[in-house]
Amino acid sequence: MEQQVKRMLDVSFSETMRISKLATKMEEEGKDVISLAVGEPDFDTPEFIVKAAEEAMETGFTHYTPSQGITELREVVAEKVSNENGLKFGKDNVLITPTKQALFMSVMAHLDDGAEAIIPDPAWVSYAPMVKFADGITRRVPVKENDGFELNADEVAEEITSRTEMIILNSPCNPTGMTMSKEELKGVRDLAIDNDLLVVSDEVYEKLIFEGEHVSIGSLDGMRERTITVNGFSKAYAMTGWRLGWLVCNQDLLENIAKIQTHSITCATSFAQKAGLTALQEKEKGEEAIKQMLETYKKRREVIVNRLNEIEGFHCPKPNSTFYTFPRYDFDKSSMEMAMHLLENAQVATTPGAAFGDQGEKHLRISFANSLDNIKEALDRIETAVQKL
Ligand SMILES: Cc1ncc(COP(=O)(O)O)c(C=O)c1O
Repeated sequence: MEQQVKRMLDVSFSETMRISKLATKMEEEGKDVISLAVGEPDFDTPEFIVKAAEEAMETGFTHYTPSQGITELREVVAEKVSNENGLKFGKDNVLITPTKQALFMSVMAHLDDGAEAIIPDPAWVSYAPMVKFADGITRRVPVKENDGFELNADEVAEEITSRTEMIILNSPCNPTGMTMSKEELKGVRDLAIDNDLLVVSDEVYEKLIFEGEHVSIGSLDGMRERTITVNGFSKAYAMTGWRLGWLVCNQDLLENIAKIQTHSITCATSFAQKAGLTALQEKEKGEEAIKQMLETYKKRREVIVNRLNEIEGFHCPKPNSTFYTFPRYDFDKSSMEMAMHLLENAQVATTPGAAFGDQGEKHLRISFANSLDNIKEALDRIETAVQKL
């Protein structure tokens, strides 16, 4: 049977997956591949969180939950976003769902057919496909390395038309590893208000900041009613496989999203919600676990940035957050060719920068969610492999 659904024609698998698949194939063939393409913490979920899920399963908490999420978890999330992010919302403004699902539903529920969404370039690989699934149109605004990967409000303004409905932001940012400053966010805030736009703010790397502060755009004056703030447990608590996160927004916006949740995944996994509840409720333990991971990432960041800058032809700005570096290189190769060269010749997997947008060309995203030994070995191999170019 051959069936072409129009909506699917323009959406392809992410480039990040292509390299990972190849790397896995090489590993299966017995090759010693080091993956610096990883987008998840290399730590295990802290034990006290795992125990909470085990207990939930053992006591029969394995059924559907209310679609919006269990009340206790919505309460602690509301408390967290209110205290830490200045988002003064109650439990009824919280919806529990996997982070990626939260983003997907936010776009599906609030972008009209043919309407435009503004996305920085480079940006995380899934925003543009989400806009396409909603039959929307993506307009990209370059964030340049020379400007410290800052989003310039004037350049955003140039992309706004009468059809623009949404801006998608991601701070701290995957892939650049940079946070947006309050000033930068205020620039976007002014445009959002002047042009009556909705902001979807992806803050999933909030806890992985080495220097500087995290600002939630939804906490700025005038933004409460026009921001959907999305966050989750994956990156902070090493819980990627649990598929658990949340979104917070005003009641009208939330109702639209809740309709999609009800008719798609129904609810987030019941015992994962109990685990998330424990992660937030036992704040001290949770913060300690995050602190330890952050210290480890910080040590690795020093090594990877210094070492990359020592390799001729690479230029690596120091990220102030996340576990990604986004170095530029001088070699006459596209980022896909470069990633392939490193995979084939150094057996090191990296992610081609072009996967994140046109501005990502001539960059690689190199993750430091891997052990220090592996990072050092990988960089030695990269150095040897680029000498052949
Ligand atoms: C910027 C960004 N947003 C959202 C997500 C999705 O998070 P989750 O896997 O928890 O759904 C990711 C995961 O890689 C990400 O990098």
